[in-house]
Amino acid sequence: MPTLTLSEFKITELDAPLGAEVTGLDASQSVAPDVILQLKQALRDRHILIFKNQNLTDEQLLNFAFYFGSLYVPPDDVPVLASKPGVTPVVIPISNVDNGYTGSGEIPFHSDHLWTPYPSSGSLLYAIEVPPEGGDTYWLNLNLAYETLDESTKERIADLELITYNPFLQDPNGPRPKYRLDKSIPLISPVFPHPLVRTHPESGKKILYLSYSNEVEVVGLDPQEGAELIEQLREHLNQPRFYYQHKWSVGDIVYWDNQATLHYRQAFDPNYRRVMKRVSLAGSRPF
Ligand code: OGA
Ligand code: MN
Repeated sequence: MPTLTLSEFKITELDAPLGAEVTGLDASQSVAPDVILQLKQALRDRHILIFKNQNLTDEQLLNFAFYFGSLYVPPDDVPVLASKPGVTPVVIPISNVDNGYTGSGEIPFHSDHLWTPYPSSGSLLYAIEVPPEGGDTYWLNLNLAYETLDESTKERIADLELITYNPFLQDPNGPRPKYRLDKSIPLISPVFPHPLVRTHPESGKKILYLSYSNEVEVVGLDPQEGAELIEQLREHLNQPRFYYQHKWSVGDIVYWDNQATLHYRQAFDPNYRRVMKRVSLAGSRPF
């Protein structure tokens, strides 16, 4: 009988409002069915999974990711991070060197692909090189953010729909409004309203489906009233009691649920290297 060692497969809930750490699993190898099922359940319960000590090729990263779904592919005319006309890389370099994406600046709380018609269900980010300080990523529990709203706000937002404007269609050097107040500016692409209160497609939990600083518009509300409501909701969700701050180690893979969380990245010194790879998985139409 092999003796059990420290590398035995284990899922440990973090002492945080979301997240669980997974140890003793080698994502480069095939994974047993009961382990996959435990991981899926843990993702539903904890919204993000942190796999430690991984060492993977791109192909192995994809093979692992596809246990949980198929690749997220945006429509040809809806650009997302790393899109070149009509093509989006399968494994996206999230890196401040070698023509990677996202640089070294702060990235406000967001959910990947929220402005698209069928946003990704989740993303996996694999850390290959990390800076000695800065560049932490925070994940925020949008179910908790919803549940802690007061009852009158819950009632008020129950049936509202929200448009999130595509940040990749905005002038990168232009102003970055957080709400579309000026409706006279012509739209340059179709928009995709989603329920502001989304129901998680597997757990059934309600989530406040709102990013922190993308330009948005509540369908059918007077712009001033909509802007005030959104500001109030954003103030509410931006609280430390809803988030977990992850300090990266080389070999971490974080798999997060875009249907239940937002994520934020701290800035870091651009003289440091931060090299990661991301894969996003297909999602479904929000309801
Ligand atoms: C992403 C992202 C944050 C980070 O890859 O979608 O937002 O910490 N990354 O690099
Ligand atoms: Mn992101």
